[in-house]
Amino acid sequence: MTTLEDILIIDIPKIVDKKGRGKLSVIEKNVIPFDIKRVYYLYDVPSDAYRGGHAHKKLLQFMIPLSGSFDIHLDDGNNKKKLMLNKPDKGLLIPNGIWREMDNFSSGSVCMVLASENFSEDDYLRDYDAFLKFKSI
Ligand code: TYD
Repeated sequence: MTTLEDILIIDIPKIVDKKGRGKLSVIEKNVIPFDIKRVYYLYDVPSDAYRGGHAHKKLLQFMIPLSGSFDIHLDDGNNKKKLMLNKPDKGLLIPNGIWREMDNFSSGSVCMVLASENFSEDDYLRDYDAFLKFKSI
């Protein structure tokens, strides 16, 4: 079963324009360990809002703070940790079986998520006790 150790911050390759015209980051097949089936993004999130509050049975996700920042609280059923995501050239790989909650969104923040599967509500564990049971199997 997955643990916090399976959560990785992955550097996203970056091309810095030599003429000072900004940066370009690109995610190709070799950057993340799954094929992307779905892309979604969170935006217009109020600073006092909380997102997440679930885990996934199968889904792998790669989360990129395209703009601004937010905190993510991660929990593998035994241990917890909190990270702040605020660098658009660093993404967070979240394997299946990890409970996550996000809060403290900065104004104008945008969080893009690359996902290994199509959307399926059946893949969600939205009840914390059901999550703990899933982890103990
Ligand atoms: P959810 O994953 O719970 O959002 P968050 O973890 O950011 O708080 O999704 C919120 C709602 O959007 C929920 O009703 C499911 C729906 N949804 C889709 O229909 N398709 C998708 O690809 C996603 C990610 C969510």
